[in-house]
Amino acid sequence: MSIEKTLILVKPDGVRRGLVGEVISRVETKGYSIEALRLLNADRTLLERHYAEHIGKSFYEPLVEFMMSGPIVAMVASGNRVIEGFRSLAGVTDPTVAAPGTIRGDLARDQGTTVVQNIVHGSDSPESAAREIQIFFPK
Ligand code: RTP
Ligand code: MG
Repeated sequence: MSIEKTLILVKPDGVRRGLVGEVISRVETKGYSIEALRLLNADRTLLERHYAEHIGKSFYEPLVEFMMSGPIVAMVASGNRVIEGFRSLAGVTDPTVAAPGTIRGDLARDQGTTVVQNIVHGSDSPESAAREIQIFFPK
């Protein structure tokens, strides 16, 4: 069986605040490997693919606007159970209640914006990871 991979994004708030190194450090310190990495400006077409499951939800348009508000960093990390492991490192979606010790719990808070800004994205299943990695790192 091949080693599991996940897609991690450092969102525009994380890049703006200079937290790319901090996120990479937490991933590497946990023991996962960085397999690929790029800085990019995501456009609407790419984000529509990435966030297809959220189209039609109230936060979808603010989410897309936020994700286009500055550069993001996309990376592929690998290791046994890395999908679950990175979600654990990231903490829950809402940074106000994300546990201290997690990326969101330590580094983010509610800024009163229409969409929650929470530093990172991590794939939530093997199917999502395969789909999302293909979007950001096409063969
Ligand atoms: P992600 O996909 O970014 O790793 O985050 P997640 O699984 O914890 O959250 P998900 O439900 O997939 O939502 C994707 C992103 O949309 C924004 N969001 N805002 N009610 C809200 O204001 C709301 N709900 C979701 C967040 O940026 C979330 O990470
Ligand atoms: Mg998600």
